[in-house]
Amino acid sequence: MSNRLAGMLAALLPIAALSVSAAEPRASAGIASPDARIAVEITTDGEGRASYAVSRDGHAVIAPSRLGMMFTDAPKFERNLAIVDQRTRSHDERWELPWGERRYVRDHHNELRVTFAETSGTKRRFDVVFRVFDDGVGFRYDFPDQPALQRLAIAEELTEFTIADAATAWWIPAFEWNREEYLYHRTPVEEVGLAQTPITLRTGDGLHLSIHEAALVDYSGMNLTRAEGRRFKAALTPGIGEAKVEVTAPFATPWRTIQIADRAAGLVESGLILNLNAPNALGDVSWIRPMKYVGIWWEMHLDRKTWASGPKHGATTAHAKRHIDFAAANGLGGVLVEGWNVGWDGDWFGNGETFSFTRPYPDFDLEGVAAYARDKGVMLIGHHETSGHAAHYEAQLDDAFDLYARLGVHGVKTGYVADAGQAKVLGTDGRLRYAWHEGQAMVRHHQKVVEAAAKRRIAVNPHEPVKDTGLRRTYPNLITREGARGMEFNAWGDPGNPPEHEATLVYTRLLAGPMDFTPGIFGMDTKSGQPMATTLAKQLALYVVIHSPLQMAADLLEHYEARPDAFRFIRDVPVDWDETRLVAGEIGESAVIARRERDGDDWYLGAVTDGEARTLRVPLDFLDAGRRYTAQIYRDGDTAGWRDDPHDLVIESREVGAGDTLDIRMGPAGGQAIRFVAR
Ligand code: NOJ
Ligand code: CA
Repeated sequence: MSNRLAGMLAALLPIAALSVSAAEPRASAGIASPDARIAVEITTDGEGRASYAVSRDGHAVIAPSRLGMMFTDAPKFERNLAIVDQRTRSHDERWELPWGERRYVRDHHNELRVTFAETSGTKRRFDVVFRVFDDGVGFRYDFPDQPALQRLAIAEELTEFTIADAATAWWIPAFEWNREEYLYHRTPVEEVGLAQTPITLRTGDGLHLSIHEAALVDYSGMNLTRAEGRRFKAALTPGIGEAKVEVTAPFATPWRTIQIADRAAGLVESGLILNLNAPNALGDVSWIRPMKYVGIWWEMHLDRKTWASGPKHGATTAHAKRHIDFAAANGLGGVLVEGWNVGWDGDWFGNGETFSFTRPYPDFDLEGVAAYARDKGVMLIGHHETSGHAAHYEAQLDDAFDLYARLGVHGVKTGYVADAGQAKVLGTDGRLRYAWHEGQAMVRHHQKVVEAAAKRRIAVNPHEPVKDTGLRRTYPNLITREGARGMEFNAWGDPGNPPEHEATLVYTRLLAGPMDFTPGIFGMDTKSGQPMATTLAKQLALYVVIHSPLQMAADLLEHYEARPDAFRFIRDVPVDWDETRLVAGEIGESAVIARRERDGDDWYLGAVTDGEARTLRVPLDFLDAGRRYTAQIYRDGDTAGWRDDPHDLVIESREVGAGDTLDIRMGPAGGQAIRFVAR
């Protein structure tokens, strides 16, 4: 097939296959992105070791880096490999997200499937599939069914990532007890230790990179360990047996992803992770309702109420009804109630076997509260804290979800509070095993929960989850998750999240997907008495800066009732979007994000800064040209800052258009929120 014909076919068909089968083993293979700027080259050296390298505009981005796999019960794939086949194809498609930060995603890539075979021994084979987009690369191992490799007991993945140029890295440590809830380090790449993904890098030339994974299914999460210099090796999360992963061929690993962009916006706006996930597997998902919610929650974190039964029990019938009334009066969709079920008394951390997911405490009339919510058009959001005891939860899963479905509870927040490595699952022998939160057993557990929930039309919001790898495309009821330090750290205070935390999350954790950060704190008391690193305007800005289709208004209701002027923004701001842009910002310093509401014309802007007061000049060219807007501005007052006067909020209106520029001024740890009402 001629290249021209192949090009025409690629333009006409969503998928065009053009096979280039190599009759003789070759030492190299290559593929480029549709815009031809990113190139991937795969080579084998004199000893038959396989490597890949990535360049952009002819300049190395990932220097030659090894590929391979080690097994517990079979020789590794690392040497004596030959490229025996290679096939390419192109794909160009626009697909629609049922909910999200944008409506349409373009999946435009060139694919190269390279088949490696051992040149000696049992001549086992495997493929590595590369997909090259204009904004990065994904690749994964694909093991065909073959007599010499039926059961794969993976000891370690030998994938490497060698960063070609000096760079600054933003990363959190892996294998620490508090899972994903660590502050980001900002270090030269040579000082990264054992890191989780996504990890974000910026080279001296301003090239932005993010290394992560997509479609983590039936496998263990990938971490990165720095071997030397700028060379990283994959470090899979341990499994519950000798092997880190046990699967049966045919099997394809998750995609290893390298996002590449000139500017930070290219990372924030990338659809690469979603594109590497399988399409929606649930069919009609119109029942999934993105929404804002309030809850019986913040007061427990401030120690004013308890999850446990007793005089300070938060989840009482009356308190829940008060929240339902508030949600109904303010157009918020849901009410979360934590501490409703038996099992919280005593030390619930790590005592998951005490939880019942069907028995409410006597002072919480579950049926009555659910009926009250239904009558008011508000959804009760369920809560299943498991303390990491996945096995105990699984035993009750069907009953728990059946109960919720019967009561009209179509959303549940789950929780896995246990130190890393202390989750509990059943081994194949039926005995309890300790497991890592991101090991294969817990990845399987979450999959089971999401599928069981989908059957009952329930959306799931896991806390202490497995990292997000874009599975929301396949399972849109996996609606959001935690998986980073959220607002709760500010309630505890000691130490709370630092001023730059949110301006870092935008370019790190949030590249992976939505986060249930739980913004909207107006009363800024903390348990420790330490000041919270925020202003009131920043709390409003977070509704735009952090995307989550379930977005909590996390504070006590009386704090909202005391500030109806500020609360109006929370009432107005949508949770579902047609378009998203990073209009300004630098990693860990500031972020200005503009989003257009789903099915509407209004735009919203959220801006946050670190500990520095800043004024950012922001052209409004994202607005529709030729249209006028009323900008409803919620900004830091002139003296506002997190240490002094965090509540100093100015609300004002201006008429603007796409040709205008706004000076967005923010105090230390401050922010700004704007609704652009289309006229
Ligand atoms: C940790 C969660 O992140 C938090 O939101 C929840 O309140 C507690 N676990 C209790 O389940
Ligand atoms: Ca948490």
